[in-house]
Amino acid sequence: MNILITGANGQLGTEMRTLSEAHPAHTYFFTDVAELDITSREAVHAFVQDNAIDLIVNCAAYTNVDKAEEDEPTALRINADAVENLATAGAKVIHVSTDYVFSGEGWIPGRESDPVAPRTAYGRTKLAGEERLLAHRPDAVILRTAWLYSPYGNNFVKTMIRLGLDRDTLGVVFDQVGTPTYAADLAAAIFTVIEAPEWHDGIYHFTNEGVCSWFDFTVEIHRQYNLLHDNAIRCQVNPILSTAYQYKTPRPHYSVLDKSKYKETFGVPVPYWTEALHRCLMAMKTL
Ligand SMILES: NC(=O)c1ccc[n+]([C@@H]2O[C@H](COP(=O)([O-])OP(=O)(O)OC[C@H]3O[C@@H](n4cnc5c(N)ncnc54)[C@H](OP(=O)(O)O)[C@@H]3O)[C@@H](O)[C@H]2O)c1
Repeated sequence: MNILITGANGQLGTEMRTLSEAHPAHTYFFTDVAELDITSREAVHAFVQDNAIDLIVNCAAYTNVDKAEEDEPTALRINADAVENLATAGAKVIHVSTDYVFSGEGWIPGRESDPVAPRTAYGRTKLAGEERLLAHRPDAVILRTAWLYSPYGNNFVKTMIRLGLDRDTLGVVFDQVGTPTYAADLAAAIFTVIEAPEWHDGIYHFTNEGVCSWFDFTVEIHRQYNLLHDNAIRCQVNPILSTAYQYKTPRPHYSVLDKSKYKETFGVPVPYWTEALHRCLMAMKTL
């Protein structure tokens, strides 16, 4: 297959590039905004036609949740209008979405069929992207994920290592829970979809396995970092309530996604979050 990967310089796109080497049967076209701005319908359609693209894996997105609140039109252009450009280009699509399509209330892991109720501009624009994609390509695959991190770009793991090394104490919220997701494992899940003997369209939830709060995640990041490095983090991490933190945008209290559908459909296990974190920290060490 000829496979177009958009947003290829982002966290997930970079992991897709790395993992593609283990799947040499396909021809890959890795593009980011400089090579292919997905907000241009003409450019997207021409690229897909000129390169006989069979499948688009959309790793491009407007992912800054706070900035989206201030500039929803730009977020909508990238997270929804551009997704429609991809959906109408004539190739199959695998798209990535988010737990922010849900309200984040309640205490039961979210299933694909649960009612959506985004509470943020980011969530609204990502939901619009899902809807526009499915309107044009009912055969699309959408993977909703959460708490994504990797050795690349800006993410929670890198921030907590930096703050841990810089500060003596750190307050981190313990009343918001979810599941961290190593972008390399999400990339592997995308390849599982691609290489499945049959195409299984629909929405799937994919994160790593397990549940933790941001506080627990931080403690584990520091613990594992210290096992791998001589310059130990000595920062005291304290649990705080969300009400003590000045969020610009409402944050979901409960981001846990139920992955049963993904596991049952594709028959593959999902790595546990602490083990995934270990692989990421090891990868960061070799960069
Ligand atoms: N990060 C998370 O915690 C999280 C959680 C749940 C779901 N997700 C979803 O997971 C997916 C991957 O996220 P990620 O963290 O890998 O994102 P990311 O690191 O922000 O990467 C997105 C990439 O898309 C590029 N891009 C932006 N506008 C574009 C355009 N018009 N045309 C082409 N490329 C464009 C970005 O370039 P610039 O950097 O130059 O803008 C960036 O390289 C996204 O769909 C995101 O919504 C992420």
